[in-house]
Amino acid sequence: MIAELRPLTSLNSEQRQDVRRIVGEVDVAPVFGAILERGGSHDHVYVLSSVGEVLALAAITRDRPALGWGQLSYAVSQRYRQKGFGRAVANGAVARAFGELGLGRLTSSARPSNLASRRILEALGFLATTPVDPSPGADQEAWLVHYRLLA
Ligand SMILES: CC(C)(COP(=O)(O)OP(=O)(O)OC[C@H]1O[C@@H](n2cnc3c(N)ncnc32)[C@H](O)[C@@H]1OP(=O)(O)O)[C@@H](O)C(=O)NCCC(=O)NCCS
Repeated sequence: MIAELRPLTSLNSEQRQDVRRIVGEVDVAPVFGAILERGGSHDHVYVLSSVGEVLALAAITRDRPALGWGQLSYAVSQRYRQKGFGRAVANGAVARAFGELGLGRLTSSARPSNLASRRILEALGFLATTPVDPSPGADQEAWLVHYRLLA
């Protein structure tokens, strides 16, 4: 299936509905709910679509604009997972971040159990900056592996 990455701002009303449905999914809402509510100029949101349907979302948030740093987030509609779209949307967003957005550094994070996300980040060259296993005494549920990639 050929899929293309486009800015969120280019969508028609049906595709915006696809986005709302994906953002309503239980494990996507925590990642994208706040980003879409903010609607601010420091978030660049992209969608991966195929034959007009939105399959996945990615966002680059400029968290330290003065330094050219950003944060990468992405999610795939549950019905389209395990088909390579996660890798595709993350790859496309990283290319935009280091290309047209001109960023020099990206961070991202994943729960230790989120093997798909960790595989995607590591294949893109992101390096873990925190341990995969929670420190003794840390909240196991809240533990995140933080990653960093330089342009
Ligand atoms: C993480 C997520 C984006 C992965 O999307 P996806 O389309 O299923 O991923 P892909 O099909 O591109 O697979 C990427 C890699 O993960 C592996 N993978 C996919 N699902 C997996 C699973 N459930 N368990 C283990 N590995 C898995 C794939 O085999 C692939 O690895 P490989 O290329 O080395 O074989 C998706 O599960 C999701 O949207 N989760 C909720 C939001 C989220 O966690 N976002 C990331 C944090 S910002």
